[in-house]
Amino acid sequence: MDKLIIVGGAVLNGDIRISGAKNSALPILAATLLTGEKMRISNLPHLHDITTMIELLGCMGVESSIDEKMTVEIDNSNISSYCAPYDLVKTMRASVLVLGPLLARFGAAEVSFPGGCAIGSRPVDQHLRGLEMMGAEVDISGGYIKAKTNGRLKGAHIIMDIVTVGGTENLLMAAALADGETIIENAAREPEVTDLANCLVAMGSEITGIGSDRLVIQGKEELHGCEYRIMPDRIETGTYLVAAAATRGRIKLRDTDAKLLESVLQKLEECGATIEISENTIELDMKGKKPLAVTIKTAPYPAFPTDMQAQFTALNSVAEGTSMVTETVFENRLIQTHELNRMGAKITLEGNTAMVTGVERLKGAPVMASDLRASASLVIAGLVAEGETVIDRIYHIDRGYECIEEKLQQLGGSIRRVPS
Ligand code: UD1
Repeated sequence: MDKLIIVGGAVLNGDIRISGAKNSALPILAATLLTGEKMRISNLPHLHDITTMIELLGCMGVESSIDEKMTVEIDNSNISSYCAPYDLVKTMRASVLVLGPLLARFGAAEVSFPGGCAIGSRPVDQHLRGLEMMGAEVDISGGYIKAKTNGRLKGAHIIMDIVTVGGTENLLMAAALADGETIIENAAREPEVTDLANCLVAMGSEITGIGSDRLVIQGKEELHGCEYRIMPDRIETGTYLVAAAATRGRIKLRDTDAKLLESVLQKLEECGATIEISENTIELDMKGKKPLAVTIKTAPYPAFPTDMQAQFTALNSVAEGTSMVTETVFENRLIQTHELNRMGAKITLEGNTAMVTGVERLKGAPVMASDLRASASLVIAGLVAEGETVIDRIYHIDRGYECIEEKLQQLGGSIRRVPS
């Protein structure tokens, strides 16, 4: 298992390119199952989860080829299996996103039941409830979700009990080939849901309310192939902005979109950053100032994203003042605060809130990554800490950040990867 070694103290300064969004690439790759025609998806990020999703499609009989720019051509005309096996699902929960498309196109799907993970229990009851409302029979046995339908799925009026990104995506894809109209209320409004909806429209779907919490889908008998470019990764964007802010530096991000992360940019301005945006760039400059502590509370989009909470907790731990970080989406997502405390942070937990008192300096230490975004927070902490930080279990980080050490080196960070 590789480790990252970071020597803190450098002030980040420079320009980098932002990759395509992992969390929209995954559902869009699953959505290719909805058509037998060829699909061409570009701007995929070069990440382990993407390879896993392509491998998962491959074991169903999907043929694909990827070029060096991470454009994938997909041919779904010869699907021979409707099963997402345990071995792949256990490494990537997003595999459950093949459930809706398989069921809608082939009337059958078997997907290993995704377990919980370090950040929480992560049930899929809302995915299953919606599919049942559309006429699917769902049975759980042998650790698998076995779903089938007699003929096509039927349009339904679904009011989601809670806002779920994956649940909305699975039902949106299922509805695209259902018979009649489906209305999804209390839908997730995350930009990744919008990106998926836009891709479905490019495949011939009729969807209104895109970007709102009420999606209305007129099901089609068939969808066609298309070319689609994945949107920029708003969480990668936010992570580099926070890293630059924590080191009191300056950064310019290219190929991104400020409209995807307004709540995050507002918090960075509250922190004392000067932000300039253009159509596809974001520039942040701390002008050498120490960041000010900011209070945040995670909630579904457009509120502050749970996937940016850990990074802001790291930032707050070296900021001026005290702050409260409240996590409302995943029950166990403040877990990285213990590792930050091992680096000298002053964080106490009260239920789902972290009380963070900014310290002058963190101190490098050996730490362990527990999940994707928690790992990003440890990288940020390592960049601002005095001395050397060694981060173990960095496979988590490789699931969500393309070439993280190259990008940080380009910005002047001292970071390298070593095999354990
Ligand atoms: C997606 C993102 C993840 C992000 C999360 C919230 C992908 C691949 N992952 O995850 O990075 O952190 O959105 O923005 O896109 N829940 C239920 N029942 C369900 C489904 C969810 O109770 O059927 C709960 C979850 O336990 C959690 C909350 O709803 O508390 C939100 O989860 P959800 O939005 O579904 O997250 P994911 O789609 O798994």
